[in-house]
Amino acid sequence: MPPPEVDLTVYPDDCDAFGHLNQASFLRLFERARWEMLARGPGMDVFSRNGAGAVVRKATVEYHASAYPGDVLRFHQALARLGRTSFTLRQTARRLRDDALVATGEFVIVCVGPEGRPTPVPEEFARFVAPSGVVAAPNDPGRLERIAVDGVSLAVDVRGSGPAILFVHGYPLDHRIWKPQLEALTGWRRIAPDLRGMGGSDAPAPAGAAYGMEVYARDLAALLDRLGVERAVLCAHSMGGYIAFEFLRRWRSRVRALVLVNTRAEADSPEGKRAREAAIALARTGGAAAIAESMLPKLLAPSAPAALRERVREIMAGNPVAGLVGAIGAMRDRPDSTPLLPTLGDLPTLVIAGSEDGIVSPASSRAMAAATPGARLVEIPGAAHLASLEAPEATTEALQTFLAGLR
Ligand code: MLT
Repeated sequence: MPPPEVDLTVYPDDCDAFGHLNQASFLRLFERARWEMLARGPGMDVFSRNGAGAVVRKATVEYHASAYPGDVLRFHQALARLGRTSFTLRQTARRLRDDALVATGEFVIVCVGPEGRPTPVPEEFARFVAPSGVVAAPNDPGRLERIAVDGVSLAVDVRGSGPAILFVHGYPLDHRIWKPQLEALTGWRRIAPDLRGMGGSDAPAPAGAAYGMEVYARDLAALLDRLGVERAVLCAHSMGGYIAFEFLRRWRSRVRALVLVNTRAEADSPEGKRAREAAIALARTGGAAAIAESMLPKLLAPSAPAALRERVREIMAGNPVAGLVGAIGAMRDRPDSTPLLPTLGDLPTLVIAGSEDGIVSPASSRAMAAATPGARLVEIPGAAHLASLEAPEATTEALQTFLAGLR
């Protein structure tokens, strides 16, 4: 169970002379929400009965909107980091009636013993706030957070601070395709989830035959909410691009800029839809290993080094069948997004294509860039469908140049 959400009402005595919820009172509300979370979980005495006190060492609060007496605020608590003797909780407060983000807070809390020295975080508290643990991805030293959205728990790589970039991987992959960019793009808050059904995220059986692009898009919007991010640069690879288009149809104002990598706007042709049926059958009979085998020659150029081939195969082969089937069906059913492109004139857009891409032809990327007013196109020579890993420096450089223009 994730730490529960807590609703608190704003009272007149929380407000200043102008009737706004006062910034200092907010610290009390964040604290009250944390206590309430404990009361509904392991108990308010979870620290004291384990011989520890919990001391706030750092508090960072951002205020986004005003609140007034009578407003009910919903506080969401998420674990951002779990250390041996300290942990970081991120809290967001949204107004219930209009879902406006009112404030976000990040609190570094240290556990101290009776002599005032750091002491380990009580085990039962850690189990409560991180039921699945803060996990390490297989074969990846990076640390992932588990973040609950819309009934599923996503594995999310969150690094750095600054304006946010949301990295969305394609099929049948996970956040690790962005590793070079996650490492390089300092100065930005990099958020790279595993989509539901892939990587380390939960893979619920799809309701109906497929997940649907709107399901993934909703997960991403909820993830940004959980992290207290109102707007982000969307950087999306292939199927991630199909999701990005759906996200734009629903939450255009939350997208600061768009990067489309090895992706296209068209829907599947009838022949493409038939190929999806065959892929679903293959996933059901041969599992992720068979899908990995069939995808590998399409994702990477023949000249790709053996070590990269193995790494990508390993990423693909780890996916659960329910997630693969949910994704293939969602791609088959996706709408045509080409009518959206001419409406994106006010959105800084970068299109990255691979000259050897056999899934999304360079011609299709060129057409997509041409149909999007003001879009820039970078075509990477020698890269196929996985530019972020096949040509990490060129992909990162294209991103850096684009992002520098946004500052
Ligand atoms: C992907 O890389 O996300 C998929 O191969 C895209 C597709 O099959 O349309």
